[in-house]
Amino acid sequence: MNKVIAALESMDYGPSLEDPGPALAWLQASEARFGHFINGRFTPPRETFAVLNPATGAELAQVSQGSAADVDAAVRAAQSAQPKWAALSGHERAKHLYALTRHLQQHARLLAVLEVLDSGKPVREARDIDLPLVIRHFCHHAGQAEILEDEFPGHLPYGVCGQIIPWNFPLLMLAWKVAPALAAGNTLVLKPAEYTPLTALAFAEIAREAGLPKGVVNIVTGDGVTGAALVAHPGVSRLAFTGSTGVGRQIRRDSAGTGKGLSLELGGKSPFLVFADADLDAAVEGVVESIWQNQGQVCCAGSRILVAEAVAGRFTSLLKRRMARLITGNPLDKNTDIGAIIDPKQRARIADLVALGVAEGAELFQGAAPPGCFYPPTLALGVEPASTLAREEVFGPVVTLTAFRTPEDAIALANNSRYGLAASVWSENVTLAMDIAARLKAGVVWINAANLLDAAAPFGGIRESGFGREGGRDGMAEYLRLPPARASRAEADLPPPVTRPGEAMAGPGIDRTLKLYIGGKQVRPDSGYSYRTGGGKIAPGLAPLGGRKDIRNAVEAARAAKGWTATSAHNRAQVLYYLGENLSARAAEFGARLQSLGQKPAAAGAELATAIRRIFWYAAQADKYDGRVQACKAAHLTLTIAEACGTMGLVCPEAFPLLGPVSLLLPAIAMGNRVVLIPSQSQPQLALELIQVLETSDLPGGVVNIVSGPRDELARTLAAHEDLDALWYFGSSAGARAVEEASAGNLKPVWSEPGGARSWATGAGQGREFLARATQLKTIWLPYGA
Ligand code: NAI
Repeated sequence: MNKVIAALESMDYGPSLEDPGPALAWLQASEARFGHFINGRFTPPRETFAVLNPATGAELAQVSQGSAADVDAAVRAAQSAQPKWAALSGHERAKHLYALTRHLQQHARLLAVLEVLDSGKPVREARDIDLPLVIRHFCHHAGQAEILEDEFPGHLPYGVCGQIIPWNFPLLMLAWKVAPALAAGNTLVLKPAEYTPLTALAFAEIAREAGLPKGVVNIVTGDGVTGAALVAHPGVSRLAFTGSTGVGRQIRRDSAGTGKGLSLELGGKSPFLVFADADLDAAVEGVVESIWQNQGQVCCAGSRILVAEAVAGRFTSLLKRRMARLITGNPLDKNTDIGAIIDPKQRARIADLVALGVAEGAELFQGAAPPGCFYPPTLALGVEPASTLAREEVFGPVVTLTAFRTPEDAIALANNSRYGLAASVWSENVTLAMDIAARLKAGVVWINAANLLDAAAPFGGIRESGFGREGGRDGMAEYLRLPPARASRAEADLPPPVTRPGEAMAGPGIDRTLKLYIGGKQVRPDSGYSYRTGGGKIAPGLAPLGGRKDIRNAVEAARAAKGWTATSAHNRAQVLYYLGENLSARAAEFGARLQSLGQKPAAAGAELATAIRRIFWYAAQADKYDGRVQACKAAHLTLTIAEACGTMGLVCPEAFPLLGPVSLLLPAIAMGNRVVLIPSQSQPQLALELIQVLETSDLPGGVVNIVSGPRDELARTLAAHEDLDALWYFGSSAGARAVEEASAGNLKPVWSEPGGARSWATGAGQGREFLARATQLKTIWLPYGA
């Protein structure tokens, strides 16, 4: 008996190769030369470049480098197809998406193998993870199209979407982008990554075969230059990008001020936390899925293991034992765990980063890998939190391991990153796991699992991991918008304020000295100056001239007021009701102040009444707007929690001196944010008077900070501030461009509407959209019924 066991244990796996024949035959059918897919047909190949198999270096096909003219032709095709596509009923679009699903199912084997040849990922993954998820995605979104009119009444598609995707999950990222865009009634131009365009081209053929109307899906191949042309095209009204943080930042800058919708799904350095009471064997398997799936070329890969000191030794030896059994090599072999790295350049980048890590003191434990474009599974021990391997996204099969003492340490280490995409928490104690999940800075948290994805579960990050969500209802919402309710007059550019050096701030139009409001105190501006307000129909006056230093102090005060975010929704609702009551009690005074700015009594009365109602509406929403629970895969629930963004900058419109600030302030603080508000430049008095009401309403100091002055200059300082988490800007077009550009540093989400002012007095000035923009979703995966 022992002999049999010994023989079994010493046996090696024989290769079990997947047949690449059908995929190669598909390539040959087009003589392995491809043009773009525009308006339902392939263009002749032109200016082609080679697409290689990363595992062998062999050429698979020649693909065209898309020019600006190709992008233009594709966008035009999408534009002319869009009205008809959007005019179909949700049910009709659903039928198209179901047809696509079925055709994808029929070709699943071919697509999986083509993906393996093109990307180097192991066939087991392409077959068992990528393709089932692709199919699930189209199927789920067929359903989303079906129920669209009930779920999103009154919403419209954007028009033409420009979508740019990376090479790590070529077909899956296509599915994530294409399915919701089509379900919502958009048409699109998609640019696959230059390394991996083949499954997108096969998808184009499948779309044609499935009878998708021409022009609805267009695919233009090429590199970053082609991508940039798509970003720049004025016919595109919404952009979606997945890829590196560097390119995401570039796209943020390139699209600034254009009014194009934007979502960015960028890099990560996700923590993988193992607590002392975790099932260590399961956690080791979790690491395999987390960092060695797809050679670690996964944006949400758990590349930083943080393990409780008490079990660190045992966990490390279990992990090393598992690593020794991982098979790196031929991606077509069904036994392979780790396939080829996408390109020699990328492999060299991984090797360089690891060498840097070693030079900084990391100790390596590595598995085996054959020669060529392969990299062995690598565990880096003794890595300091500040070192390269702990901070940089390696995008390879490399994981660090650090021990922690207490849950507090674990949280501090986990959140010590400029990214915030995902996290994985391993503990048998659900109380501990959920407490940790609540405190992690991440868009997705898996409890006792890793890298789970589902079409119904929103996915996406915070901080430098980008913004926007893909999947589920929230992912659908990203491809829809409400028809803009515009005011008759657009927000104009503002002249620089005329300052009054060193002078008391009392003057005509106001009867007392107004001050800035920072950290719960009324303070003089750092400049000591005031500036002249008013102009046109607005009565002249004076207000404190805030500057950069005041903005920095205000952001600091807002950051410090963390208690507001932690307080219960019930308590926040109480404070907001109190605020509403206090403003009502002073209605006569505020009405008179509105009139003193030059408003007619009826207009002043209407603005005041709407502002008061609006406060009560958000007080009511404070404990009602929340997340949802999605039933995804069997044995898992996903909880989507709407969390406060943190610190927000709110830049008010020029019109509506009271209703403007109220419309921005209330949704933000109702959701638990702490804010820095920049009021109207020409009539900031009402916002500054509001301080009296805030102070008597039990609102803790620092939750609301108000800095008046040169609005757009102050807004730019806020936009560039690295410690601000989100910004709303409702000023001019030029101002919107400037703040969006300046926001590219920490990639804070910016909500702005260049080219038009909202009609604040109507329903467009209030609603769930404001609450959605004041929150960011955290998706927590919880075992359920397992
Ligand atoms: P990348 O971000 O350059 O490429 C992603 C896509 O963006 C490709 O389709 C590319 O053609 C396009 N692109 C490049 N420059 C563009 C521009 N200026 N405007 C518009 N589109 C542009 O990623 P790359 O260079 O292939 O990989 C480098 C690093 O990026 C990786 O080592 C990894 O750290 C990270 N990465 C992260 C991904 C993720 O899913 N978060 C995916 C791919 C890469």
